[in-house]
Amino acid sequence: MLEAALQTAVEAVVIIDERGIIRTVNPATTTVFGFQTDELVGHNVSTLMPEPFRSRHDGYIRHYLDTGERKIIGTGRHVMARHKSGAIFPVHLAVSAFEHEGARYFTGIIHDLSKRNDAAVLREQTLLQSIFNQLPEAVLVSDHAGTIALCNPAVGRVFGYSPEELIGQTTTLLYKDDAEALRVRALKGGLSDQEFHPPSTVTFRRASGEVFPAETVISLLRGERGESVGFLFLVRDISRQVAQDEALRKSQRLEAIGQLTGGIAHDFNNLLTIITGNHELLEMELEDSEQLDLLSRANNAALMGARLTNRLLTFARRRLLEPAVLDLNEQILGMAEMLGRTLGESIVFGTVLAPGLWSVRADPGEIENAVLNLAINARDAMLGGGRLTIETSNVILDDADVVAEPGLAPGEFVQLSVSDTGTGMSRAVLAQAFEPFFTTKEPGKGTGLGLSVIYGFVRQSGGYVTVSSELGKGTTVKLNLPRATVPPKERTSPAPAESARIGNSERILVVEDNADVRAVTVGRLRKLGYTVTAAENGIEATEILGADARFDLVFSDVVMTGMSGFELADWMRENTPAIPILLTSGFAEGVSQAGEPASSGLRILRKPYSSTELAGALRRALDGR
Ligand SMILES: Nc1ncnc2c1ncn2[C@@H]1O[C@H](COP(=O)(O)OP(=O)(O)OP(=O)(O)O)[C@@H](O)[C@H]1O
Ligand SMILES: [Mg+2]
Repeated sequence: MLEAALQTAVEAVVIIDERGIIRTVNPATTTVFGFQTDELVGHNVSTLMPEPFRSRHDGYIRHYLDTGERKIIGTGRHVMARHKSGAIFPVHLAVSAFEHEGARYFTGIIHDLSKRNDAAVLREQTLLQSIFNQLPEAVLVSDHAGTIALCNPAVGRVFGYSPEELIGQTTTLLYKDDAEALRVRALKGGLSDQEFHPPSTVTFRRASGEVFPAETVISLLRGERGESVGFLFLVRDISRQVAQDEALRKSQRLEAIGQLTGGIAHDFNNLLTIITGNHELLEMELEDSEQLDLLSRANNAALMGARLTNRLLTFARRRLLEPAVLDLNEQILGMAEMLGRTLGESIVFGTVLAPGLWSVRADPGEIENAVLNLAINARDAMLGGGRLTIETSNVILDDADVVAEPGLAPGEFVQLSVSDTGTGMSRAVLAQAFEPFFTTKEPGKGTGLGLSVIYGFVRQSGGYVTVSSELGKGTTVKLNLPRATVPPKERTSPAPAESARIGNSERILVVEDNADVRAVTVGRLRKLGYTVTAAENGIEATEILGADARFDLVFSDVVMTGMSGFELADWMRENTPAIPILLTSGFAEGVSQAGEPASSGLRILRKPYSSTELAGALRRALDGR
């Protein structure tokens, strides 16, 4: 009966002697392992085991016979078994020992686990397959020689090769260069499979030739018998993140430099306003031509200082801009002749102006400055002659572009690009080109402020600047300014130059909290023929106006402690609506919060101003023009 049970059992039953030789097997054994009975009986049972157990099996038996120490006998456990085809599959093995006619035997009862729970296995496989297919990271498997055996669809996105193109190639193809391939080989050599290996940054090359950094996990792959069969690579492209970090670092650095320079320039500007104002007053007193000459030299120096501080303020995005809605094509055409003269005869100058160009809202004076500075940079880079091209176009900035420019929203931009065929810049120069005072020109030839000023102005106008340049391959600088929603106004002919018009004894209330600036302003206005009253701050101004409203104009600083010029203007709209107000400021602070000066209907005179500019602005405000 027992024999009948053995013959029909689902489990494989194998009896071996103490040398490990199979003495008998039941029919299920042939089904489970694929061997015929005569291929098993008389052979070592290790035939049914995969490496490394196979080689060790004789040792196991000897160990038991020598020591009586049981590792498996009497208990069951899950082990791997080997099919005739070479396939390795899981089984449950229970072993017992018995003696028969003075010899020792072992019985193994083997239950095939590979067919167990097909649905669960299938689910697991489907899950793994879809992870492999859907993973955004590239996954590659290579053998020891580096030949790619398997890769997932993401390699297409990351490397630009299809999986079919890669399989059979060696991984060397994917590295930036031989040095990187060698480095990775060393990394692979140091791998062990016990520990977790943190990702390393590896530099790869895409099919397009583009080089990119990727966070890469490399691990040893083991076969089912525990032998190492190759390597698994998980590759996460971090080029976008690196570019973003770089751009952020750069803009934070410029921001920090801007804070510093802006602060210094702000204070200097106030000092220069006092110096030039006093010069003008003194000039009216002096008659001696030699003294007048000395004064005019001092004044010229002060004006140069004012120009410099103004450029610094622009870089720091703290200059009070006077934006207008513009057609950049028109601006460039208006400058063409001047540019041609600046560039000289050895440089060919051309423009490619897009028809239907959107309008922008920007300060026309700053645009002109920017184009001129870029043209001069180009000229300096093309001493042996070359070609300068100015192009305009409408561009749409999408999210991918925005990430590289912190603080910028996607949208419609007008691009003004200036390219030359000059020397180009090295990476080191390019990295610093926007920093104020960075110049590669000889002392006296360049101040290193050209690009910084352009950067500050464009950022303050809501746009961004990009430069591409390579040594020997020329340079392209692109200014991207946000599209304006309103069309440009018809160009009005510029106002005729104002002569220093003399006031008609009109009464002006000056509001200024800096005593020196106040004294200069009062002096200048009196010289111009006005009757002047001064207030130290906004509150005092409201008190004066409350007591006596017979003023023809209030001339007030914007940035004051306590009540600002804007708040004073608000108070006046309520209380003395008939009196016009002219504000003055050198800085963008406060102005941007209160809205654009043009849209708020307030007149603002930009500091520092000459007496002529002051007289003109006062006249227009008084006459309501
Ligand atoms: N078109 C260009 N080709 C090659 N190098 C350039 C170009 N434009 C700028 N550079 C490099 O960038 C540096 C900084 O330029 P930037 O315009 O800010 O200052 P600068 O021209 O040296 O001085 P400044 O403009 O104040 O007179 C230059 O000194 C030069 O090295
Ligand atoms: Mg320059």
